[in-house]
Amino acid sequence: MRAFPQKEDFVKYMSTWVKNPKKETSIMLGDVKKYELMPYLHYDLDSLKDIAAYIYETDFSQEHKGHID
Ligand code: HEM
Repeated sequence: MRAFPQKEDFVKYMSTWVKNPKKETSIMLGDVKKYELMPYLHYDLDSLKDIAAYIYETDFSQEHKGHID
């Protein structure tokens, strides 16, 4: 969210990166070093955009307070 404050940029970056996870294009190199590169997932780009938009719109600090409306 700090790297891509605008929803459009966030969704574009996250969906295309997760479609093709690579060390070279990661902005979380500390985590790559600690956990290794995340696995390739068999989601199509549109699904990854939906997931990214959901992540952008959800306040995960509000956990245990309920469900998606
Ligand atoms: C729909 C599911 C997932 C989404 C949307 C997602 C998204 C992401 C994103 C956006 C990053 C940051 C990349 C960067 O900016 O450098 C990342 C990193 C990471 N993810 Fe995932 N991920 C998913 C599933 C998984 C799964 C299933 C695993 C492990 C089994 C995993 C493990 C990791 C790890 C270890 C990193 C940090 C290292 C790296 O950059 O590869 N992720 N993920």
